[in-house]
Amino acid sequence: MQEFNDIPVLQTATVIANDRLCREHLRIILRLDSFATASPGQFVHISPAQGDHRGYHRLDDTEGGASDAWRADCFDPLLRRAFSIAGLRRRSDSVEIDLIYREVGTATNWMASLGHGDTASVLGPLGNLFPISNRKRAAWMVAGGVGLPPMLWLAAALADHDRKTVAFCGAQTRDLLALTMDRDQSPSPDASLATCCAAEFARVNTPVVLSTDDGSLGFHGHIGQALSCYHESNPTPADDLVVYTCGPERMMRFVSDFCGERGIECKVCMERAMACGTGTCQSCVVPIHDDDDRDGWRYRLCCTDGPVFDSRDIVWEPSSCVAGKG
Ligand SMILES: Cc1cc2nc3c(=O)[nH]c(=O)nc-3n(C[C@H](O)[C@H](O)[C@H](O)COP(=O)(O)OP(=O)(O)OC[C@H]3O[C@@H](n4cnc5c(N)ncnc54)[C@H](O)[C@@H]3O)c2cc1C
Ligand code: FES
Repeated sequence: MQEFNDIPVLQTATVIANDRLCREHLRIILRLDSFATASPGQFVHISPAQGDHRGYHRLDDTEGGASDAWRADCFDPLLRRAFSIAGLRRRSDSVEIDLIYREVGTATNWMASLGHGDTASVLGPLGNLFPISNRKRAAWMVAGGVGLPPMLWLAAALADHDRKTVAFCGAQTRDLLALTMDRDQSPSPDASLATCCAAEFARVNTPVVLSTDDGSLGFHGHIGQALSCYHESNPTPADDLVVYTCGPERMMRFVSDFCGERGIECKVCMERAMACGTGTCQSCVVPIHDDDDRDGWRYRLCCTDGPVFDSRDIVWEPSSCVAGKG
């Protein structure tokens, strides 16, 4: 079901700051004149602003152009890219949004090149949101790698709702963890202990369990193992707990199975390549169980039906069913 809070708007944003957080992650703060009502889980679709020639390819000799010519039909990145909103602040005359991104290709390299006063084209807010249950007092967030950004904003919203929160944050190694460590509170290598070791979560009273695959910080192992360990030592009734997760699909599947086996509600923020972000191009499908469908499942769109889905609805092994769908 589509859950737009308001109509998304296309506008030009101004860069306020663009700082490196760790080896591959940066946080960009964008200022907009206005921004529709938005909630954690939602995302924006961004590209170079019109007229920003850094978004265009310079023709080189092999392309038959003069060295200072720009190929106006070769917009690079051609398509917008999706980024979860990691924070949002409403000012008297403007709105600031935070995006945290990992430099992986054309668009994120372009984003990393932006400085104070540069511009970017922003479409948003897009997608649905993480529902906050009135019935459940405990809320655990499980983030792997670049799944962290939506959890930062969600943690603030959960704190406003007075929920008992814990954030589980995993990375391959400490250099890839986009969090600021508190000098006085070390992350515990024992995953049964959550500490206020990360400034971003400490600000909203959320203790954190950290894990790294190589053991360079916090618990040695993947974040799903840390979640299991914490749950074992801190049993919380399933009917009082909701788990939110975002990150690599394998990790989310682990979390989904973990919750499914224990009857814990789990909301998953899915990622797909998104050409339009608005439900037109059909490029961002997610297979979803559907008892009314002849095959027992059907596609839904990550950009408009998601990106947040209930974990029980997702068909986690699409290879077993994608081939049959036209
Ligand atoms: C709803 C939604 C929210 C998102 N939120 C964020 C966010 O908050 N922060 C963020 O950094 N990204 C986020 N993404 C992912 C982001 O949109 C992609 O990483 C984007 O394609 C990057 O564009 P690019 O041009 O730099 O790289 P591309 O040219 O698109 O990709 C370059 C190469 O990197 C690989 N690649 C793409 N994405 C990733 C990845 N995430 N990790 C590792 N390799 C990758 C590709 O397979 C390709 O080989 C989100 C995606 C969705 C759908
Ligand atoms: S990105 Fe075009 S339909 Fe989802």
